[in-house]
Amino acid sequence: MLQLDEIANSIRNCVNCDLHKGRVHAVPGYGSENAEIMFIGEAPGYYEDQQGKPFVGAAGKFLDQLLALAGLDREQVYITNIVKCRPPNNRDPLPNEIDTCRAWLQQQLDTIKPKIVVTLGRYSMAYFFPGETISKIHGQQRKRDDLLIIPMYHPAAALHQERFRHMIEDDFRKLRTVLEESNKPPASGEKPAEEEPHQMRLL
Ligand code: URA
Repeated sequence: MLQLDEIANSIRNCVNCDLHKGRVHAVPGYGSENAEIMFIGEAPGYYEDQQGKPFVGAAGKFLDQLLALAGLDREQVYITNIVKCRPPNNRDPLPNEIDTCRAWLQQQLDTIKPKIVVTLGRYSMAYFFPGETISKIHGQQRKRDDLLIIPMYHPAAALHQERFRHMIEDDFRKLRTVLEESNKPPASGEKPAEEEPHQMRLL
């Protein structure tokens, strides 16, 4: 099994697509190798590219507030992106860039083995649920093998539109409930969480 910092070093040296040509830093991810919950955004922006860390700009400040709503902080979780290098002028990542970068995310998932993945925005939702629409499935938890995946709006969406802010804040409050429930020992006679039905609407 690869260590997280070996994967990070390989990402920093990656030249598998053209995005490496314009980067200052690749942004592998940040957080604990033992994290039980992993947040997956879209791609680094200007400040992330400058610092080599995910979500350090305005969307990142809001993400910190959202994590606090869920009772979390950055040291407890792992935060990464679908694409590890900044697309020029913050354009959307292209399909070939997402495909090329998939292997890194898969290695991170295999190493960290989180119990819960929260996708932030359309691109990371599509990685797990291609063809779905974020407005329909945000805040819903879905099981895939042993992994619970919860798609959420991207925090940057909430910086521009108040209604998204309320929706994403509500979804993070529900996440707090999910985490509290998942940390409770099963009451005797109750089925453990892994045996719950595959699709549940939160609350
Ligand atoms: N937006 C993202 O999706 N990821 C970052 O790291 C920063 C902004």
